Amino acid sequence: MASPFSPFCGRDCPLFSLILFFLLWCVFPLSSHGQITPAVYTFGDSLADVGNNNHLHLSLLKANFPHNGVDYPGRKATGRFGNGRNSADFLAEKLGLQTSPPYLSISSSGGPDAFLKGVSFASGGAGVLNSTNKDHCLTLDKQIEYFSRVHAALQQKLGDVETKKHISQSIFIVVIGSNDLLGYFKSDPSERAKSTPQHLVDTLIFKLKGQLKNIYDLGARRIAFIGTGPIGCCPSERARTNKGDCNVESNYGSMKFNEGVSSVLGEMKAELGDFSYSFFDTYAALMEIIESPSSYGFTEVKAACCGLGNLNAKVACLPIATYCSNREEYVFWDFYHPTEASFRRLTETVFNGSRPLVHPLNVRQLASLKV
Ligand SMILES: *[C@@H]1O[C@H](CO)[C@@H](O)[C@H](O)[C@H]1NC(C)=O
Ligand SMILES: *[C@@H]1O[C@H](CO)[C@@H](O)[C@H](O)[C@H]1NC(C)=O
Repeated sequence: MASPFSPFCGRDCPLFSLILFFLLWCVFPLSSHGQITPAVYTFGDSLADVGNNNHLHLSLLKANFPHNGVDYPGRKATGRFGNGRNSADFLAEKLGLQTSPPYLSISSSGGPDAFLKGVSFASGGAGVLNSTNKDHCLTLDKQIEYFSRVHAALQQKLGDVETKKHISQSIFIVVIGSNDLLGYFKSDPSERAKSTPQHLVDTLIFKLKGQLKNIYDLGARRIAFIGTGPIGCCPSERARTNKGDCNVESNYGSMKFNEGVSSVLGEMKAELGDFSYSFFDTYAALMEIIESPSSYGFTEVKAACCGLGNLNAKVACLPIATYCSNREEYVFWDFYHPTEASFRRLTETVFNGSRPLVHPLNVRQLASLKV
């Protein structure tokens, strides 16, 4: 039994608290100072693209012209599809890192050193399927192929053991699926008749499982998957309905896709053991904002800020389009993409939210897991 004067006297004694305090201070100093993961590697589409498509000369899916970037530092149109920073920027900031640079901007000039703090392969238009916008983006398969090159370069530089450690502690963000779904729901009825929404989703989930497994096989152990949003509520989809309501069919596809992704991640965790993930239900989180905008500081959930025509959704945010001045109050920047204000809101929940919006871990918890 512990005496009151023993240094190991039980949880009420001051010395115990002091030791605990120092332990916490020494073991977790980083969590209070920022960086909690060595690097972020990002895969995905225009919701995370930070400039890869600028380097695809034949791509029509670009955003490196005004009014994009009107709220970015220096009003710079960086290739981000939005008025300012996007989810990749806000997540990096929360993790205490710089935004991972676009792979295509460093692959020629940089070497392994440039890859050490992370790389972004995200490319506007990308999908799970090779056929989705194939001539205009880096498809997810291509992104994974590029990551295998980065992996090889890191092995050259750090050796196998250190590379394995580095990659296994890094966060892998994956934001994909919207373009595959939109491609189907926007196609003409004869095209759509060839497949049902459920069949499309099954095909996507089957392929995605292989892709996530490929990323795992290259050493990734912490995947943060950002699910698809209510794509039927983006201005372009609303503009196709009579009263500007959300398109029920494409929203249904998005919900089914998210259910599929969530169960694939659960299966991977069960099958692989040394794998952890965070799944963010963008659908539910954005729907909450769309249904009660004033609670989140928004006033306009239907129309795009930048564009032309009905709901500003008939024309992309091209230099000839007009844009709103109260951009903090709009959920959507252009016919498909959220505003910086939406990205900021959503990323708070990705990073530090809880069930049912993010599960089984949020990204803060995922990054803080013990090795
Ligand atoms: C998709 O493209 C990758 C190369 O980026 C290729 O390895 C793969 O076989 C293709 N898959 C299909 C189904 O065409
Ligand atoms: C995370 O959320 C909790 C409440 O759920 C809050 O107390 C805490 O300050 C938040 N931490 C960060 C880093 O945002």
